[in-house]
Amino acid sequence: MATISVHQAVTIEATAFGRKHTMTKQKRGLARGLTNYGDMDFSLYLRRANAASMGYGSEILHKPVVGIADTGSGFNNCHRHVPELIDAVKRGVLAAGGLPVVFPTISLGETFLSPTSMMYRNLMSMDTEEMIRAQPMDAAVLIGGCDKTLPAQLMGAANADIPVISLITGPQLTGHSEGERLGACTDCRRFWGKFRAGEIDQDGIDKIETRLVTTSGTCAVMGTASTMACITEALGMALPGTAAIPAVHADRLRASEASGAQAVALALAPDAEKLTPRKIMTPAAIENALRVLLSIGGSTNAIVHLTAVAGRLGIPIPLDQLNTLSDETPVLIDLKPTGEHYMEDLFKAGGMGVVLRELKPLLNLDCITVSGQTLGERLEGEPAYVDRAVVRTMVDPIQPMGGLVSLFGSLAPGGAILKRSAADPALFETEGRAIVFSSLEDLAARVDDPDLDIEPNDIMVLQNAGPKSPAAMPEAGYLPIPKKLARAGLKDMVRISDARMSGTAYGTIILHVTPEAAIGGPLALVRTGDRIRVSVKNRSLDLLVDDAELEHRRAELPKNAVPSPPRGYQKLYYDSVLQADAGCDFDFLRDPSLL
Ligand code: FES
Repeated sequence: MATISVHQAVTIEATAFGRKHTMTKQKRGLARGLTNYGDMDFSLYLRRANAASMGYGSEILHKPVVGIADTGSGFNNCHRHVPELIDAVKRGVLAAGGLPVVFPTISLGETFLSPTSMMYRNLMSMDTEEMIRAQPMDAAVLIGGCDKTLPAQLMGAANADIPVISLITGPQLTGHSEGERLGACTDCRRFWGKFRAGEIDQDGIDKIETRLVTTSGTCAVMGTASTMACITEALGMALPGTAAIPAVHADRLRASEASGAQAVALALAPDAEKLTPRKIMTPAAIENALRVLLSIGGSTNAIVHLTAVAGRLGIPIPLDQLNTLSDETPVLIDLKPTGEHYMEDLFKAGGMGVVLRELKPLLNLDCITVSGQTLGERLEGEPAYVDRAVVRTMVDPIQPMGGLVSLFGSLAPGGAILKRSAADPALFETEGRAIVFSSLEDLAARVDDPDLDIEPNDIMVLQNAGPKSPAAMPEAGYLPIPKKLARAGLKDMVRISDARMSGTAYGTIILHVTPEAAIGGPLALVRTGDRIRVSVKNRSLDLLVDDAELEHRRAELPKNAVPSPPRGYQKLYYDSVLQADAGCDFDFLRDPSLL
């Protein structure tokens, strides 16, 4: 049996912690990136001895290694089936002649994290990046799905020098209650709204609780997780046709097996030809992903995540570019919260292949994907079938323009986002009186106060819910309609904040106001009674208060309103997090060319 020796190794110069030193790097498998004990032959010997203790025969230890990122967690219901996916990936790796090695990373279960999973997305990206880099693998399969996991993994993978395949966990199936079809979490919000409006009682809302999320997988609508899944496939980082397969469908296991096998194929390529994430996530591929985001009526969160992913690669996504693309890209799919259907319907309708085929005239077809094919080559092989109730044509779209629009003006010099596809067009040109809540705590304390002075044509404003606020930019931008207005039948009103909104939510909700209130952005200067003007037609968002008054208010703002926490990850987060227009990435992770 042949033994890999460090004498076959390539010696390279590397820089770590500012010091230049020589390290030895093997080309393949367990001999990659050896632990430094000062004697590299001993390092390899010791590693193999320890690997042998796990019961491997010596022959298999010479195979190319495919790392499989395990994001299963008891705190992540959306990833409940990850162990089964891992088994299928392993099968694919072994059948293709590789050695599968599972490794854990942080998992982010959207509803289990406080104050918000967003605070931990960058941490997960660092975990993913460093574990790919530090451990000896020739390729990696990253299993992700729940909201922040896929973007964190893409951010982490962006700078990997090995091939990476995203394996999407897949969406939940819908549930039923008394003949009504239900899916998380648009229907969670719909029923909660009915409960708040007094249309259903406590028994009614309790009964629905076990009917909303009935299988493993990610939220059943075009929420953030599904949006990121579609974007990941559009970027070319997941195998074709895998974004919409339901989590519990046998095709999901076949996709897992195929991802494992393809990872081996990519691992075996010569170093110079390795299909690394940087070769896949090019500016052209990012533009394709933006087109897809707009055409699927995708989540507002996705623009923040895609900006962060692209930012790791030095690719800027200016919000005015989003508007240009949005004007040219129609909404093609009819999924909640924009439309009527669920992710399993998109799968049955033909999946992302159909959407990409419809969008073909707008896409950059030369982009390479993890399959080894270009996007154009992939689309030549797409089946003809499509359910037009779910995926429409470019000439007969759901909406003629893209789902998202960015607004700029004196209230948001750095921009704000509106998901117009899920908003009420009757509110697109609005001037109204601001009703200001200074924090989430203030909102909770007063929004349902019967004495709150608020009318249906007022504009609700929430301050101090941005990335540097104590709340760390939670999905709280979907401000509840005050109970007294909800009970009078009001379904929507303009709401503005520096927070985010769940991709499963809907309403005329303006988010990600930049710069945020906590760092003294104009949002911090708004007072109840001020006039605000929103114009989607003009892409504008303005605070109608004169400059002298604003300067006076600015002088009264507290200094150092958000002091840095004393220690730990919280300190790293608050010291380093950037604004929404930079993807809320950490300053030291974003490509320096963009800072
Ligand atoms: Fe995991 Fe919605 S809670 S995707």
